[in-house]
Amino acid sequence: MPIRDVTIHPVAGLIGAEITGLDLAEPPDDATTNILRGALAEYLVIFIRDQKLDMAAHKRLTEAFGPIMRVPYVTPSREDPDVLAVLKEAEETKVSVFGGDWHADFSFLESPPAGSVLYAIEVPPYGGDTLWANQIAAYETLPDDLKAIVDASRAVHVGTPYGVKHAPAPDTATSRSIEITRGDPEADRETFHPAVCAHPPSGRRTLFVNPIYTTRLEGPQGADDPEILRRLYAHAVRPEFTCRFRWTPGAVAIWDNRATLHYAINDYDGHRRLLYRTTFAGDRPQ
Ligand code: SIN
Repeated sequence: MPIRDVTIHPVAGLIGAEITGLDLAEPPDDATTNILRGALAEYLVIFIRDQKLDMAAHKRLTEAFGPIMRVPYVTPSREDPDVLAVLKEAEETKVSVFGGDWHADFSFLESPPAGSVLYAIEVPPYGGDTLWANQIAAYETLPDDLKAIVDASRAVHVGTPYGVKHAPAPDTATSRSIEITRGDPEADRETFHPAVCAHPPSGRRTLFVNPIYTTRLEGPQGADDPEILRRLYAHAVRPEFTCRFRWTPGAVAIWDNRATLHYAINDYDGHRRLLYRTTFAGDRPQ
């Protein structure tokens, strides 16, 4: 594919870019892989619309970024154990959705995913957008007192289904289209990561805490005060650190899970939304 036909347009000031001129149904060649990886390292989430991917092509695209990893506690799609079907049916109203608060995917794992590839099959006529927030920018602009605390702290992450804040009581309505296994020992134990990690492609420092999975900070005196996490979360998703993606069928989003948080907006009751997601592996956060 001639590289001159590829364009990259930022979608917001600090995060996100849309790429045109790529056909991802073809196995990505070296030039395409370099464009995709370079854009992801720079913009942290990239969007490519109007693609026609079967699951094999979706997985090949994912492998351009790293080995595909399987994730705990969510039952994969029936068609392929490497692919999650992120689905809410039209008749599933007033239920919580997968990813419906700010989070980094599976941050409670010892080696959380380096990123994910989400591909839209069916989208509602309005709503169902996804937000991402740049956690390098969030770290760099922290007030001095918070920066001193996070620099010297580690964060405790727990994956008890849907995390600590959204763990639904067993009798609570949740989207039945995403099957969650309770009592998964891989998810239910505590994992410690530095509250500030290096973003592997750039070496820049990124805040690595999130309201779904982080239970507390351990560090200098006062770090365990819940008010510190509350202030961090409020800062981490300031509107200027974010971008918002309006899905269209065939759109692909690829994000860096180490330097962003994301949020699936649940505002489309009465409409079906189906996306397929794969996840690629990364090293233990340092
Ligand atoms: C997720 O991967 O957290 C879900 C994102 C979405 O449904 O937009």
